[in-house]
Amino acid sequence: MPQVKVGLIGFGTVGAGMVEVLVHNRELIEDRIGAAIVLKKIADLDIHSDRGVKVDPALLTTDAMEIIDDPEIDVVVELIGGCDQAMEFISMAMERGKHVVTANKALIAQYGKQLFETAERCGVDIAFEASVAGGIPIIRALREGLAANQIEAVLAILNGTSNYILTRMTEEELSFDEALALAQRLGYAEADPSLDIDGSDAAHKLTIIISLGFGYPCRYEDVYKEGVDKISLEDIRFAGEFGYCVKLLAIARKVDGQIEARLHPAFVPLDHILANVNEAYNAVYIEGDFVGPTLFYGLGAGKRPTGSAVVSDIMDIARNQIKGISRRVSPLSFARSPATELSLRPMDQVSTDYYFRFSAVDRPGVLSKISGVLGANNISIASVIQKSREAHGSVPVVMLTHEAKERDVRKSLEIIDQLDIVTEKTVLFRVERKTGI
Ligand code: HSE
Repeated sequence: MPQVKVGLIGFGTVGAGMVEVLVHNRELIEDRIGAAIVLKKIADLDIHSDRGVKVDPALLTTDAMEIIDDPEIDVVVELIGGCDQAMEFISMAMERGKHVVTANKALIAQYGKQLFETAERCGVDIAFEASVAGGIPIIRALREGLAANQIEAVLAILNGTSNYILTRMTEEELSFDEALALAQRLGYAEADPSLDIDGSDAAHKLTIIISLGFGYPCRYEDVYKEGVDKISLEDIRFAGEFGYCVKLLAIARKVDGQIEARLHPAFVPLDHILANVNEAYNAVYIEGDFVGPTLFYGLGAGKRPTGSAVVSDIMDIARNQIKGISRRVSPLSFARSPATELSLRPMDQVSTDYYFRFSAVDRPGVLSKISGVLGANNISIASVIQKSREAHGSVPVVMLTHEAKERDVRKSLEIIDQLDIVTEKTVLFRVERKTGI
């Protein structure tokens, strides 16, 4: 049986998951690809800690160059994360004619173009299924399964940690900090959890989805991004009163020849299919012009699901290798140059429904002052709740609006927050009603 030799750089959680899949499903994998995948070396700075998976100690090294310089290794798997060192290792591996598998979303989102050009020049494959939505095969779905479609819209929950936090806040009324501590204890969060909660992790994934789905060379810096770190329990409760829940949504949608690219917490109707995606689960809803609505659901984080995605990439490369081919499908699915006729829609041009929570003094005329400013800026109110007076005399006034333009909303809130009847900065959530089953 032919052999495909693999070197792993980064023996952390995902690395251990990858090894576990290779060991546990060895026969099945061989049956499927007609080749044996041989793990030849594993490099990590720490080669002593127990990863919960048995490996021959002779495979372990602290020097990644032993893998990169090994002429027998066909595929280098990069699982160290971060950008600089990973970029260096991957580039060197490709220059030496090795195929690469990575789970590194930050790297692909920010330096994908450069890496794909190097892969093309070196005649090797670079695969990154595990970079988006963990175990859900969303890269393959966009690149191959849905390749015959114009993608019209993508609506997704792409960060398991944030989704877990929002679920705990909604179901158990935990504070944000309590819910984050639980997520960290369960190992969902990144080593630096700020990447999960400030939205960076999900925005990296959305950047990759947009580049694949629309053939548009999306830049990470151009994706609008807000995380879950400023969400209060108060707004989650109000969302429930209006018949919504709060989700961190990644949205990409074609509107008038432009692409909306935004990642932010949003109110989602309780009967929307994404409202039922809870705990650390991810889901990606995609609408194509011929296929219609599709939904992909599964675990977006964790050792086993992400390990499964990494091994699927190794298997793909192994299949190519034994047929003597490479780069059968280009990394972003498009053989032609990128769709530069498209552009990203500036955030102030986005139109959606909104939720506002004003903090105002409780006296006659307050509501009419606020609604006067909204009306003068083309914002029409759909419903209002005003709660009873709190000890300090300030009351929350919460509203849902009809569809309005972000530019008008920002202008209105700037004026409203200056009014003497308003005691705190207004809280805003966008309401997602347009897309979904
Ligand atoms: N930390 C990520 C999440 C998983 O919580 O979804 C890896 O991207």
